[in-house]
Amino acid sequence: MYQAEESYLLVNGSTAGLLCAAAAVAKPGDSILMARNCHRSVYNGAYLNDLETAYLFPKMLKRWGVAGGICPEDVERAIEDDTLAVVVTSPTYEGIVSDIPAIAECCHKRGVPLIVDEAHGAHFGFHEQLPPSAVTQGADIVIQSLHKTMPSLTQTALIHVNGPLADRDRIRRFLSIYQTSSPSYLLMGSIDACISVMEEQGAQLFDCWIKLLEKYRKRLSACRNIRLMTVSEEEGKTGACAGTDPGRLVFSVRGTRDREGHRFSGSDLLRRLREKYRIELEMAAPDYGVAVSTVMDTEEGMERLCAAIEELDGQLEDFAPEPDERQLPVPLGKMKIARAYNGPWEPVPFRAAAGRIMGEFLYLYPPGIPIVVPGEVIRTEHLQYMEEARRQGLSVEGPADITLKTLRVIREDR
Ligand SMILES: Cc1ncc(COP(=O)(O)O)c(C=O)c1O
Repeated sequence: MYQAEESYLLVNGSTAGLLCAAAAVAKPGDSILMARNCHRSVYNGAYLNDLETAYLFPKMLKRWGVAGGICPEDVERAIEDDTLAVVVTSPTYEGIVSDIPAIAECCHKRGVPLIVDEAHGAHFGFHEQLPPSAVTQGADIVIQSLHKTMPSLTQTALIHVNGPLADRDRIRRFLSIYQTSSPSYLLMGSIDACISVMEEQGAQLFDCWIKLLEKYRKRLSACRNIRLMTVSEEEGKTGACAGTDPGRLVFSVRGTRDREGHRFSGSDLLRRLREKYRIELEMAAPDYGVAVSTVMDTEEGMERLCAAIEELDGQLEDFAPEPDERQLPVPLGKMKIARAYNGPWEPVPFRAAAGRIMGEFLYLYPPGIPIVVPGEVIRTEHLQYMEEARRQGLSVEGPADITLKTLRVIREDR
């Protein structure tokens, strides 16, 4: 159904698929080139396999303060002779798709396999209005979470393999290492049922859903303060976006104020929708909130969401554009993730960590993209950003000390 040469069921989510993929393509000490906005499971794959990591930074969609896709030109420039694999996330949490055919071409010219984390795109390719799946766009290994956008139980996912560059023998070996030897029949049955439903009724279900989305996206686009994100052709030409998932409803609240004049953030939107309307967003960032619509959504559900957003929109002050936010500096990498994560490290007071090499991850969850990874030098700007994110009610994860009073940094006598 996905047009892959081989597909395997995963019962521990895309996490298991990404760990297997990382282990299958590179051996300890090898180098991979990965998108900085990769999910933590890719970083964990690098940690477990003692990999050298180089990063591709997504282009920002400045108008929205949202990370866009990975530029093929950046991949072309960054692949080194010793790069063993390239890993990108497409679509992103916000539904931004990278130019996978062009990225695959850059990789294949150098004989390097391309791994695409398509965790959020298991529904891609099921309708002409949806982006095609990376499986049909030249990627060698593609991982998808069925449970995120398809009717399937949590933890269910797929890994697809195509072409000669991915070592299938190693993929099978690591699947049996990272997954349980007693996979749940409930989960496997759920995957089977999901695939059957899609085979038998997929065309009709997706057709109805796309019509529903068209109707409600149009209505939501009329809101003046809570602005539904759309990506213009111009922005697409910068390489920041080769397509978007219409099922991701990204509500930008950048530059909005409530009637008391307080800045209205993505977390405020999430809280209001939860408390007053009993609607749960998928995630909130300082400037926006993300709702995920799937093929199983109903007219009633979309109507409720739309009416709530319209009502909230009417309670906010007119949109006053803000200057572009400063970007966080790229942390300087000093040692491999595995070397730093394994220590020896020492705890220091939060603010005193500035200028030191981190011995643990620091990321905001969701979406689980690290601000600083073990082995990188943390700067005052990163610490201030974390403090600000916490004030806004976002969850900072990674540090062993969950109160964030201390951070683990590499001991200087080492
Ligand atoms: C981009 C991305 N990749 C991978 C994962 C892991 O997926 P799973 O929860 O299916 O293990 C997530 C989870 O949120 C994700 O956002």
